[in-house]
Amino acid sequence: MEAIILVGGLGTRLRPLTHTIPKPLLPLANIPMVERMIRNLPEVFDTAILAINYGLDEMKAYFKEINIEKKVIIVPEEKPLGTGGAMRNCIDYVTGTTAVFNGDVVTSVNLKIMLEQHNKTKAKGTLALWEVYDPRRFGVVELKNGKILQFQEKPEKGTELSNLINAGTYLLEPEILEMIPPNQKISIERDIYPKVAGNGLYGFPFKGYFIDSGTPESYLEANFKCIEKDGTATHKGASIRGPSLIHKNAELQDCIIGPNAIIGSDVKMEKCVVRKSVILSHVNSYGSVIEDCIAGPNISIERDMKRTLISPEGEITF
Ligand code: GDD
Ligand code: MG
Repeated sequence: MEAIILVGGLGTRLRPLTHTIPKPLLPLANIPMVERMIRNLPEVFDTAILAINYGLDEMKAYFKEINIEKKVIIVPEEKPLGTGGAMRNCIDYVTGTTAVFNGDVVTSVNLKIMLEQHNKTKAKGTLALWEVYDPRRFGVVELKNGKILQFQEKPEKGTELSNLINAGTYLLEPEILEMIPPNQKISIERDIYPKVAGNGLYGFPFKGYFIDSGTPESYLEANFKCIEKDGTATHKGASIRGPSLIHKNAELQDCIIGPNAIIGSDVKMEKCVVRKSVILSHVNSYGSVIEDCIAGPNISIERDMKRTLISPEGEITF
């Protein structure tokens, strides 16, 4: 079975970091987001199809270098085709029921159980659903007896059908992909789901977590979620204070790490305190206190920093 991952976004809200690293290749707990998604696929999904426009060369180079058990097919778009157009562009590689993921969300949805429901209901499409307080930034559904009766994308205030949102994980039958006109910019959320709603579209509400990793705050949150369970690191050069992850080749001396600190590969730090931060690869620092930051790759930090995203291309505070 195939899983399509939509990795078209520019990652504008994570600039300047995303000037040098395409967002899907940004690490979550030291593993690029898209690689993590592929590794988390249930066994029945043996092929991952990456629908991509921005960052194609970097993506190709990355997947050439690594060993991964699944087959990875990279399908480029000359120009952005939108979420629906990008899926349609992958149709030649699809052999049956297909999973589709928005590449920018980190969730606890259990795809295996979702697939069982999808098969049992004989749905044309099943959408993972998550409950939020304010659904206006999302796709919103009206759900009744498991069926999605209406779908609205980013509704105006006061018109929201419910608090149940589209969590960006779908199981789709080929007939839905075939409904999408080829080589056109099509939004699955605006152009297709409203039409299929009430006619074979089902919902799969889940609990646990749902994080859209697109902003500095949510990118940090997504990282911390990944180390929540098994992230207690040990390191001879550091005193560890709560969930943390330290890359095996990082060199730390007299450091205080955590809670919620992720230290990437080839990092060298001495007499530093790192809390609630993600330190990407090849960062050097001496004597600094780093809190609520995203830093790297390939930079030196010479001062204390708080709520800052700092990369070789510049920095922003958030
Ligand atoms: N290949 C490709 N081409 N991918 C694309 C394109 C494109 O033209 N446009 C968007 N994508 C990818 C993005 O990279 C992202 O992974 C995913 O499709 C969704 O696009 P976003 O731009 O992030 O949409 P959104 O966050 O505003 O809304 C979507 O996600 C919400 C959940 O986070 C919608 O699916 C909403 O309905 C949903 O609630
Ligand atoms: Mg998004």
